[in-house]
Amino acid sequence: MEKRENIFLKKSFVAITGASRGFGRCMALKFAVKFPPNSVLVLMARNEEALECIRTELQATAPNITVLVRQYDQGKSDEGYFNGIFDSLLTESKCSKDDFEQVMLVHNCATTGDKDKTAIQLCDTDRVRSYYNMNLCGMILLNTSFFATFCDPSPSRVVVNVTSGGSQRPIPSLHLYCAGKAARDMFFRVLCAEEPSIRVLTYSPGGVDTDMFRDIETNSSSSSLRKVTNGMREDGKLLTPEESVADLEQVLEENAFDNAEFVDYFLRKFKPYADKYKQ
Ligand SMILES: NC(=O)c1ccc[n+]([C@@H]2O[C@H](COP(=O)([O-])OP(=O)(O)OC[C@H]3O[C@@H](n4cnc5c(N)ncnc54)[C@H](OP(=O)(O)O)[C@@H]3O)[C@@H](O)[C@H]2O)c1
Repeated sequence: MEKRENIFLKKSFVAITGASRGFGRCMALKFAVKFPPNSVLVLMARNEEALECIRTELQATAPNITVLVRQYDQGKSDEGYFNGIFDSLLTESKCSKDDFEQVMLVHNCATTGDKDKTAIQLCDTDRVRSYYNMNLCGMILLNTSFFATFCDPSPSRVVVNVTSGGSQRPIPSLHLYCAGKAARDMFFRVLCAEEPSIRVLTYSPGGVDTDMFRDIETNSSSSSLRKVTNGMREDGKLLTPEESVADLEQVLEENAFDNAEFVDYFLRKFKPYADKYKQ
């Protein structure tokens, strides 16, 4: 396989969605100190106040990079809502795309949907549609907006598609979520088939102690899922965002992943043990 350079070594324009809390917030705090000076980091989510707090924190820890805040709602379906977002961010940063060696979009934001219902109880048209507006359509339209701005193969282009084990196997009560993640993963496999110059990491962070995980632990209609998630917490198997982000950083540093193939925290950590038992 072609040897590729550590992704963090290039002066970059990086946008992270869902950066206001949880895994995305942690990624923003950790990534900011890894990219070279004069890189630009864009924090995106609905909660502008939370994003501004992170920007303030980063001004102390990463003074050599520019941090921008972009409030948006990925669930919006108004025509043209996503157009020009990255053009205006470039203008705001007083940079042109040629100022960067690399551009990167991290699709991190997600919701889990109506987990108090089973798949055959999903009857609310607006709720089902709005779930996919945010988790699938909005993600695709934001992605299109990004590549409309960064349309040339240079600077090099990277996408991190934050996925879940639920894209690979069914999780009771997370019907909308699993189907949405599977659709996103396949979307990026097609994108890579069409645009081989774009590097895509599809990364599943494992069970991470965030609002999303706590919500599933409490509110899933599946007693088996509540039991599994509560058990992970009790057994100390739940990861901190820092632990999972550290693994993601290693994957990006090594830059040896197959384009748009599923890379999973747990498989990476525990595969050597699984292989040992097979011998
Ligand atoms: N936690 C886990 O165990 C786990 C496991 C596997 C995969 N993942 C994946 O990891 C990623 C991060 O999850 P997390 O646990 O950090 O979730 P989280 O704590 O619930 O955070 C979700 C993020 O998404 C943003 N968001 C929600 N709705 C939005 C909207 N309409 N428009 C724009 N932003 C929106 C939220 O910000 P605002 O509310 O400010 O908009 C927040 O920053 C997700 O893709 C998730 O599927 C998580």
